[in-house]
Amino acid sequence: MILKTTRNIRVTVLSGPKAASVFFNHKNLSLDRGYMMMIPENVDWRDVEGMPSTPNGIDLASFYSRFKLVLGPEKLEQRSFSVLRNIDKFYQKMGEHGTIDLFHAHHDLVLQLLMRNTFPDEIADDERIVGYVDGLYNAIDSPGMARLPIYNRLRKYFYGFKLYRALDEILKNWQEEKSGEETNSIKVLLDRGDGIEGIISFAIGATYAGLLNTSRLISWVVVHLTVYPEWRMKVLGEIRELLNKYNATPETLDRIPFRAWDTDLPLLDMTANEILRSHGHGVLLRQNIGEAFDIDGCMISKNACVVYPMHDVHHNPRLYGPTPQAFSPGRIESMGDEKQLNFVAWGSGRHPCTGRHMAQLIYRQVLTHLLTRFECEVIDKSQNPLQSLPVADHNSLHLSPPINTPIIMKYQVYDT
Ligand code: HEM
Repeated sequence: MILKTTRNIRVTVLSGPKAASVFFNHKNLSLDRGYMMMIPENVDWRDVEGMPSTPNGIDLASFYSRFKLVLGPEKLEQRSFSVLRNIDKFYQKMGEHGTIDLFHAHHDLVLQLLMRNTFPDEIADDERIVGYVDGLYNAIDSPGMARLPIYNRLRKYFYGFKLYRALDEILKNWQEEKSGEETNSIKVLLDRGDGIEGIISFAIGATYAGLLNTSRLISWVVVHLTVYPEWRMKVLGEIRELLNKYNATPETLDRIPFRAWDTDLPLLDMTANEILRSHGHGVLLRQNIGEAFDIDGCMISKNACVVYPMHDVHHNPRLYGPTPQAFSPGRIESMGDEKQLNFVAWGSGRHPCTGRHMAQLIYRQVLTHLLTRFECEVIDKSQNPLQSLPVADHNSLHLSPPINTPIIMKYQVYDT
């Protein structure tokens, strides 16, 4: 299907298994150039196919090399204790009982945890700094006004510069005080001679690339486990078994060996995948940076903008039965090898999600703590447990958020 946007840009929307396979695997379809189109200030809209006029794409090669060095499994294991301590502190602070804005609170918690993996602990511990960085990032990321591209560009430069200056100063202060003591991501990159500018852009990228998906996923799980109590029992049973096996409590989750987080919570993982499938309506983007080519009679011209809506496969009744919208964990896993192109919520082909392991660890550790520390449920306006899922806003590139917020979670510490 070919669409024209309000700016007269041709957008080719792909559908069906053959087109999906080309989308995920064709070497000419560039991911970074595709997503650059989301930043209208960087696009020369006079171009027929919407080609950015300057080749200022995202430097993914440097991102991957830094990611491998500082966020690989070994490094995540080294930081696991600090992440678990952060989760404990966050939930301790909520007290013994009360109510919270579920999505908002978990956005804040996941932001702290992602920053803890990329920035020094002293920075992630400082709520004032975390809040300041988040405010500036959101100012850069906000859509702006469609008819005022120059104003938008200036606004983004202004906040981008402010963010860079702030982090530059914060990191320099930290270096003076802590130099030589830490083995965190920033120190590793500084020690191998990376410039501060590249380090800051990496740290911000690694913090924000998965923040919305990861925090919304955790929140949606709490919502689903309220609406589907039979799944709550199953998931809680699995988590308690893990704690019992290693004689751990929510406060001593570090007794659980690092490897066990990847192997011992299959039901919790199935729940995540099912929510990503049913609530992941995002559209994936590419640009053809090579010569024109043909998919089943549809010409993908040079510089064309190509998109693939995940809904095409995730809500396909041929793959997921007559009620693809229903919550039924396990159906993805039972597909076996076919899964590769039938479930693409973690990406596929040339661009699988780089941060998947980190996101999954955070997801498993946060929910393990939350569900074993508190008896918790999402409540409606009459303070009763929610009976049906809140309507989700599918107009998001990330995992859909609920339309009506706040979603309130009521919690009470378990009697010991
Ligand atoms: C629940 C959490 C997450 C979900 C559902 C998710 C989903 C995805 C998906 C669907 C893609 C493929 C995009 C495409 O093909 O256009 C992707 C790619 C990517 N993700 Fe994630 N992601 C999550 C968390 C994270 C985190 C925490 C990071 C942290 C760095 C991250 C970093 C990336 C990067 C760098 C890519 C691009 C990979 C490439 O270019 O080859 N993601 N993710």
